[in-house]
This record gives sequence, structure tokens and C-alpha cells, in this order.
Amino acid sequence: PGVRPLIAGNWKMHGTLASVRELAAGVAAGQASGADLLVCPAFVHLSAVAETLGSGSVALGAQDCHANPKGAHTGDISAAMLADLGVRFVILGHSERRADHAESDAVVLAKAEAALTSGLTPIVCVGESEAQRVSGEAEDVVAAQLAGSLPEGFAAAGGVVAYEPVWAIGTGRTPTEADIAAMHARVRAELEQRFGAAGSTLRILYGGSVKPGNAKAILALPHVDGALVGGASLVAGDFLGIAAAA
Ligand code: G3H
Repeated sequence: PGVRPLIAGNWKMHGTLASVRELAAGVAAGQASGADLLVCPAFVHLSAVAETLGSGSVALGAQDCHANPKGAHTGDISAAMLADLGVRFVILGHSERRADHAESDAVVLAKAEAALTSGLTPIVCVGESEAQRVSGEAEDVVAAQLAGSLPEGFAAAGGVVAYEPVWAIGTGRTPTEADIAAMHARVRAELEQRFGAAGSTLRILYGGSVKPGNAKAILALPHVDGALVGGASLVAGDFLGIAAAA
């Protein structure tokens, strides 16, 4: 209550210049009054999407950044470069980056520091594997990821946490509402313990197979302050349908 929901679309490694322009235009055309909207295209599409979104209310985000502001890092993109393009948010520590690029909590922490330095709002992703869920360690795994990945200035900068159970991403499976609520309550408690009162108003997103059909129930849960949407964010109508449920 009191926290305006954020509905974020993570477009991952999808799209062409033409298709992302069309998708961004479709999102921008639907006015979601009850939520903030954010789209996160691939690096190479950021400029085109920035142009399509113009000065409208849909915010632009990236899917990663390097920990250093500049330097000899072939193929990498700095937070400063993103800020220069008009990017306002950056997803960090997504489970696909933790898996594909062996990103540890320490790496995610360094990237989040860099994001803050450049004025970007980090969206730090955490979440347990299926084996960790089954063995009952899910909440402790997530608490440890938060402790290791969130920089000191996170709360002051209005940082965002995204809870994404790895086994729910792109699978059509979601935790029970009770399990989502329990995890978000734990994340809130960790944020308040670390950051005090500022931790009470930080947004905690749920991600993992959010669709128009399940969005209302998920977004109504306590401490669920929005969603990080993958597959369904690639269809403007579905993404806007999720936003309308917020
Ligand atoms: O960042 C978004 C998530 O990984 C969720 O993806 O909605 O396709 O399950 P999904």
C-alpha cells in the first residue's frame, strides 16, 4: 500500500529493430494509470526504443551493465553509457546472467554500485533453484543473495528487488500464492533490517511466468509491488493486460 507498482518488461535477447519499434509503440499507446511501466530491450535496440518512447511515461531500462565506468573491456557496456542514452533502470543479476556468465553476488554488487554512481536505478534479481525450493532453503538462499548483492546506497536510490524463482522462469509454472507472499515478506524483512525505514517503501517485484491470467492474483499479494515479465512482455496487449491488473 502506498507504493506505486512497477511493471517491467524484460525483452531478453529478442526482436529486430522493426519489431521492437512496433512493440515499444504498442506499449506507449496503452495508458496504464495504476502502474509505472518499464521496458528493457537488448543493448543494440535501446536507442531505437528510446526514440519511439520519446518523452512519454514508459521508462527505458537495460538488462546488464559493466562494473567499471569505462576502460579496456571489449564487448562490454558501462552504466555511464546507458545513462547517456536516456536509460533509467538496469536489471542486474538476472538468473540467466548468473548462469550464463557465472555472475556471483560480488559481481552483481559491483555492477549495482556502478549503476548507482551513474544515476541508474538497479533492479537486482534474486531467486532459488528448484532443488533449493524442494529442500526448504529458498528463503535463506534469497536472503543470502540480497546480503551479497545489494550495495549500501541501494535504498537511498530507490533500488528495486525482483524475486524470480529460477524454476518459474519461462516454464509456465509459478509458486503458490502463499509461497510468493511468504518470500516477499521475507525480502521485506531483510530490506528493513538492512536499510531501516527506507526498506519499507522499496519495490519488490515478482517474476516468473507472469501472464495476464495470473497477474491480478499475484499483484494483489502483500509486498508484491509489481512484476518483472519476460515472455508476456513481448506482446504489447499481454504486457498492458498485466499492467492493468496492478
Ligand atoms: O525477467 C523476466 C523473467 O525471467 C521472467 O520470464 O515471464 O518468461 O517467465 P518469463
